[in-house]
Amino acid sequence: MELVEAIRGRRSINQFESDPVPDSILKEMLQTAVWSPNHHLSEPWQFVVIRGQSLRQMAEFRKEAVLAKNREKPHAERRAEKARDDLLKVPCAIVAVQTVDENPYRAEEDYAAMTMAVYNLTLVAYSHHVGTYWHTGPLVVFEPFRKWLGLRADQRIVAYLRVGYPHLIPQGRRTDGLERTRWLD
Ligand SMILES: Cc1cc2nc3c(=O)[nH]c(=O)nc-3n(C[C@H](O)[C@H](O)[C@H](O)COP(=O)(O)O)c2cc1C
Repeated sequence: MELVEAIRGRRSINQFESDPVPDSILKEMLQTAVWSPNHHLSEPWQFVVIRGQSLRQMAEFRKEAVLAKNREKPHAERRAEKARDDLLKVPCAIVAVQTVDENPYRAEEDYAAMTMAVYNLTLVAYSHHVGTYWHTGPLVVFEPFRKWLGLRADQRIVAYLRVGYPHLIPQGRRTDGLERTRWLD
């Protein structure tokens, strides 16, 4: 697949088929992710691939996290159940974890490298016609979920991806980059 086509064509997928994604593709995603640019080659990443019974457990955490955040809002229970069920519709999730350096400048640069690594995951997936959806939200800071993953205090969940074959690919929308560009010659 052409690189430019991949960058423009990748979309966040919200509707998935339940078919499993082969390990060979997941491994290629993970092994390519780490080729993100990375100042000082700190390699701040850890990834957790979550499937099967573990994915069902993660989905329960997601429900609890969304419920805890929205408890006062209308339809909180329904919203939380939807969050759980959306996660149950994919065959796989990948959690991306950053080891946060005590130096804030290093930590920020590492975060930049982390997001590029996560983006790499999405692009390699797309090159195999596998869809991804990038999530942050209440689950990434939900203490019971962090504890279940065995994370230390200096480890931050940067993102988790839902991963699976797309059922529906939505239209993308962007302002032309040239409209956001000044040329100083
Ligand atoms: C750092 C980051 C965090 C994101 N977190 C969420 C999220 O929590 N929930 C969500 O619906 N989308 C999240 N997204 C996905 C964006 O909403 C999505 O990329 C955007 O709508 C553009 O759609 P596209 O990826 O199809 O181009 C996140 C994206 C990034 C880069």
